[in-house]
Amino acid sequence: MDLHEMDRYIKSIIKEAGHKIRNSFLTDISIESKSDANDLVTNIDKEIEQFFISRINRDYPDHRIFGEEGFGDEIKDTNGVIWMLDPIDGTMNFIHQKRNFAISLGIYADGVGKLGYIYDVVNDDLYSGIQGGGAYYNDERLRPLQDTEIGESILAMNATWAVPNRHFDHNGTLKLIQDVRGIRSYGSAAIELAYLASGRIDAYISMRLSPWDIAGGMVIAKEAGAVATNFKGEPANLLEQDTFLAANPSIHAKILDRYILPK
Ligand code: IPD
Ligand code: CA
Ligand code: CA
Repeated sequence: MDLHEMDRYIKSIIKEAGHKIRNSFLTDISIESKSDANDLVTNIDKEIEQFFISRINRDYPDHRIFGEEGFGDEIKDTNGVIWMLDPIDGTMNFIHQKRNFAISLGIYADGVGKLGYIYDVVNDDLYSGIQGGGAYYNDERLRPLQDTEIGESILAMNATWAVPNRHFDHNGTLKLIQDVRGIRSYGSAAIELAYLASGRIDAYISMRLSPWDIAGGMVIAKEAGAVATNFKGEPANLLEQDTFLAANPSIHAKILDRYILPK
């Protein structure tokens, strides 16, 4: 697999998809709910996933596709090359704000992240990562993350995780919120991972994410030096929803040890 050749190809189709999304702002979009009333999907999420699938099937017929909207393959193992795609990460922001959403794409070979992309469509900002080749913000190579302290960190998380919930003892989250310098909530896991990779935040925590939310961002964040695991400190789950913590390497283990309280 020639990663640099694929990188050029992927950047061109991501930009094409971004163009389609920007054009959709001029049209009426249809909105539906999925698992609950706040879990939204639009015709644009579906059209963009189908656009990627048609290109991948045509140009990389041996590769499999794990897409959020379900038009790709049924993925039960990590064998071979898999494109993990979230056509719009931050659909609620896409609908309500027309900003703060991204295309998220990760290419994995036998479970190992090779290429990662997060495209902030409205700002035309493309974050990318190539295994062993660095992380980039557009054409600029991102500097390795510098060590920090919890008390000097900005943490990104959804406020949902600071109230009682069935996944996790929220008293740990409350203590973490008190101890960090600041909290941000952008509403797109992909954008939050791009911000971690570029040093704008120092950690991103979620009690429940899917593989397509994190696949692209993990490649980029790891190339910048970040560490990403589930709450047990195990490699992030590429097949199912799981807990997730990605952070600057100097605070990742401290957050897990001091604040992630078992129920
Ligand atoms: C969601 C966003 C959100 C995160 C949710 C995801 P979607 O993705 O990344 O920030 O908190 O867990 O499901 O549904 O907009 O693709
Ligand atoms: Ca998502
Ligand atoms: Ca999505």
